[in-house]
Amino acid sequence: MGRSVYYITTPIYYPSDNLHIGHAYTTVAADALARYHRLKGEAVWFVTGTDEHGMKIKKRAEEAGVSPQAFVDQIVAFIRDPLWKRLGISYDDFIRTTEPRHYRVVQHLFTRLQEQGDIYKGTYEGWYCLPDETFWPESKLVNGNCPDCGRPVERVRQESYFFRLSRYQERMRRYILDHPEFIQPVSRRNEMLGFLEGGLEDLSISRTGLGWGIPVPGDPEHVIYVWFDALANYLTAAGYLSDPERFARTWPANLHLVGKEIVRFHTIIWPIMLMALDLPLPERVFGHGWLLIGETKMSKSRGNAVDPLALIDRYGVDAVRYYLLREVPFGADGSYTEEALILRTNVDLANDLGNLLHRTVAMVQRFADGIVPAPGSGPRPLAEACAEATRAWEAAMDRLNLSDALSAANGLVRVANRFIEDEQPWALARRDRDRLGTVLHDLAETLRVLSVLLTPFLLEAPGRLRAQLGLDAPVSAMGEAAFGTTLVGRTVRPGPPLFPRIDPAAEGAPPAPTSDEAALDIADFRRVDLRVATVRAASVVEGADRLLRLTVFDGERERTIVSGIRAHYRPEELIGRQVVLVANLKPAVLRGIRSEGMLLAGSAGGELALVTVDRPLPDGAKVQ
Ligand code: MSP
Repeated sequence: MGRSVYYITTPIYYPSDNLHIGHAYTTVAADALARYHRLKGEAVWFVTGTDEHGMKIKKRAEEAGVSPQAFVDQIVAFIRDPLWKRLGISYDDFIRTTEPRHYRVVQHLFTRLQEQGDIYKGTYEGWYCLPDETFWPESKLVNGNCPDCGRPVERVRQESYFFRLSRYQERMRRYILDHPEFIQPVSRRNEMLGFLEGGLEDLSISRTGLGWGIPVPGDPEHVIYVWFDALANYLTAAGYLSDPERFARTWPANLHLVGKEIVRFHTIIWPIMLMALDLPLPERVFGHGWLLIGETKMSKSRGNAVDPLALIDRYGVDAVRYYLLREVPFGADGSYTEEALILRTNVDLANDLGNLLHRTVAMVQRFADGIVPAPGSGPRPLAEACAEATRAWEAAMDRLNLSDALSAANGLVRVANRFIEDEQPWALARRDRDRLGTVLHDLAETLRVLSVLLTPFLLEAPGRLRAQLGLDAPVSAMGEAAFGTTLVGRTVRPGPPLFPRIDPAAEGAPPAPTSDEAALDIADFRRVDLRVATVRAASVVEGADRLLRLTVFDGERERTIVSGIRAHYRPEELIGRQVVLVANLKPAVLRGIRSEGMLLAGSAGGELALVTVDRPLPDGAKVQ
């Protein structure tokens, strides 16, 4: 027998409409976790699929004027390709409840539970919520509507088979109390314990007159209730009945990932089905929050659904996956906005990560002939930062806190960008080649480590990042996150920006809101006294490798300015140049020299250039 398998599932979705980014959210999260466990070298069984029976589907097919099977076939085909394909969902099995392998399982379960007295025939009288495919007793309705979604319910009275939930109520409550890990996050666990307090009624698990579903064995007038049918998918996809050996390795599931509105089905009805069958219960059920539009849940029926493919077309798959998993702490509700997606991509990916790569590769190119040097002397803060970020990242992944994991990776990017500012490799290039080797190497190595941490989340960027570092193979194991020296001697290959900045205006999206505090009044700006001045003298400041001492004439007098531009200009090349001076800055003493103002300069990616005027102007001319 092989080793045991990490079995992770998403809900199986109703193919009643095209899916939206709410469905993509769960599926991308499960995909990232599946990829993470594969990286750790575990055998993974990652399953998603479609829940194709039920009244809702039947009605939608009637509206479309096609048979239910033809209706779902076409939507399911679309979900598999292009939807999940373009989102990079790496499922191992896609289960459809209309498949023969699943019919067999569901009918088998039904018969067995019936034989042992857990299923009996009676009459159901109560209410049904069509969009949720849920039965409700009168006592649970809220203002006559579905207590879950608030939509109207319809009266149902018919002969029905019942599943004896009530018999297992106390065992279920004990189980939840004894297994604190079973329902997560803890708020959902408390909700479920509260629900159990109210007592469990036996569940109606068949319908007559529907004609679309799995027939009750021996009583084909009845079809099996869509939730009983759907939950069993987790057994079918693990090989129950069809492949006992695989089933033994795969069951119980390690993680059912679901939206919070279906936690009750997964933590009360489903485990009771399993208890009745004498099968072990899933290790954990995680109920994540909803993507909201404004204050309401995104959903097709509310008409506010966002199409994932349209977003991918606009922003690329990595930006969409990153945004979904980074923006909202996994478990909480969060509002979706396109502006936030753009901002996230621009800040974290284009700016922080993209610049780090660009600067590092450009400096290796420029200062080390394009070859990653061996580390030389001096402290190695990035080695520790990588180890620390990897630890935090793994701990967050294991807690399913995907946004924290991404935030650990982004934190490392920021540390590395700061390291460039602190070490000033362009200055080291002139005076300390040994230290330069350490700095360039450790920056490249940090990027390589980042490519590992980003691999479960992003599909394209890790490979493109590695290509620029001279690596052709994709990340294949978690162990590669160890900080080492594998890059030494590699030739970097500068490439296009990893994430081009998105221009919100060009995308037709409203510009990112600026807070009133951040926005500058014109009067505030005018308080800055900017003037044209000419450099009359320049010299190095002894003992300070970044500083030049300048004498500039501002039209009225000469001033001394100490400026951190030594790595970019030789003193003699500045003499006679016109520059822009901030004339009303409070004087500061730098290295014992009183500096009376500041020169404006632009900087990016380790480059720096002084701001100057387009044609000569009298010294003292105002800049505005
Ligand atoms: N078919 C049932 C599930 C059966 S599982 C045995 C079902 N299907 S569904 O198509 O309605 O999908 C619901 C799931 O989609 C949610 O539990 C969640 O995983 C995901 N989401 C749908 N809309 C969502 C949001 N607006 N926000 C977050 N997740 C959302 O229920």
